[in-house]
Amino acid sequence: MLADKDRIFTNVYGFQPWTIDAAMMRGDWDNTKDLMALGQDAIIDIMKASGLRGRGGAGFPTGTKWSFMPKEPKPDRPNFLVINADESEPGSCKDREIIRHDPHKLIEGALIAGFAMRARAAYIYIRGEYIREAETLFAAVAEAYDRGFIGKNACGSGYDFDVFVHRGAGAYICGEETAMLESLEGKKGQPRLKPPFPAGAGLYGCPTTVNNVESIAVAPTILRRGAAWFSSFGAENNRGTKLFQISGHVNKPCVVEEEMSISFRDLIETHCGGIRGGWDNLLAVIPGGSSVPLVPAAQIMDCAMDFDGLKAVGSGLGTAAIIVMDKSTDIVRAISRISYFYKHESCGQCTPCREGTGWMWRVMERMRTGDAELSEIDMLQQVTKQVEGHSICALGDAAAWPIQGLIKHFRPEMERRIRERAHVSGSDTAPMMEAAE
Ligand SMILES: Cc1cc2nc3c(=O)[nH]c(=O)nc-3n(C[C@H](O)[C@H](O)[C@H](O)COP(=O)(O)O)c2cc1C
Ligand code: SF4
Repeated sequence: MLADKDRIFTNVYGFQPWTIDAAMMRGDWDNTKDLMALGQDAIIDIMKASGLRGRGGAGFPTGTKWSFMPKEPKPDRPNFLVINADESEPGSCKDREIIRHDPHKLIEGALIAGFAMRARAAYIYIRGEYIREAETLFAAVAEAYDRGFIGKNACGSGYDFDVFVHRGAGAYICGEETAMLESLEGKKGQPRLKPPFPAGAGLYGCPTTVNNVESIAVAPTILRRGAAWFSSFGAENNRGTKLFQISGHVNKPCVVEEEMSISFRDLIETHCGGIRGGWDNLLAVIPGGSSVPLVPAAQIMDCAMDFDGLKAVGSGLGTAAIIVMDKSTDIVRAISRISYFYKHESCGQCTPCREGTGWMWRVMERMRTGDAELSEIDMLQQVTKQVEGHSICALGDAAAWPIQGLIKHFRPEMERRIRERAHVSGSDTAPMMEAAE
């Protein structure tokens, strides 16, 4: 279990004020100038050595990402940092806690990350529904300007750096990094085709790095305490501490910072008061936000909660938003509801996603009631494969994976519903079902 002395987010529950004076008492903005004096390449090297992988879902190594930015930006094409505070993935609620209770970690991180990648400014794109959080962020940014920590000659470093906060309008797709850039530019938030990648041509056509709030907010502490300290947590390739967000059928849902690679059982026992009704009552877990395939109880219990551990059980760490479902859950209905979400949030640019998400949801609704034929389970599986990997952005994959997980692990339950429904609806449909088998 992570010791209190090793927590990065010491005010995640808001027991103390978020304001700059309180943040400074907690160690934020402490000689930031000295951190910057390490030099841009040295900062990137420390981030690489720390083993930090992006906390927004895909887990790309953060230091490596920063190193892709041009080292000598042209005067008419400045580098930009864009911070992804869209947090719309169902189950995810960690960036919100950082912003409302510890916003100065993020703003200081923006300066350090922006400086390291030679960025002229950072844009923090915050989810439209986060109204109070946006208010806090606007106020915290104003405080940092007032103290001279950002703006001209930020922290007395000689480096000029601005931070802008931009509110989204509440679309999940704007969390996808290139849709976010379109939205920031004032256009409809629809993902761009890649390449070019944002590091080549991003915001306003300029070199841009997009990072998640947590990835940026941990950077100052990593620099202060050292790469070796951060990488002492978690298994190889899965280093550091992490904000886990546990919701659903546990006794005490919470957001908690823990060591990466902690086992699911330890995480739930230590911080969530166990599974509602005991461990025997656990049905399945969606471990990384709604996009990743569910994992049945037996496989998740002793699984390491990290990128590799969850990959090994056919799922993913994603944003570490852990949705716990006990045996009272209608699992087919739960996944159908997720399918509805992706149908609703598809931006409509690509045919497989636009048509496929609606098609999958409608079939899932019939799977929920059992008003389907057994052969349609395979057909549904095939359609998920036609959507997966055939779209501009990963929303298509995100729509396909939960259904694939359901079919893989709960096919007998889907078949049971279809058989029972056929039985009650009369003998004329039942033989059709048998034939379809
Ligand atoms: C449909 C979709 C929604 C996404 N939503 C978010 C989000 O809300 N927050 C986030 O940080 N990343 C989100 N991502 C991932 C971003 O595209 C990007 O990979 C991430 O912000 C990079 O930050 P990181 O390297 O620090 O993880 C989303 C991706 C997709 C495909
Ligand atoms: S995959 Fe879906 S959400 Fe992504 S660009 Fe295509 S239509 Fe839009």
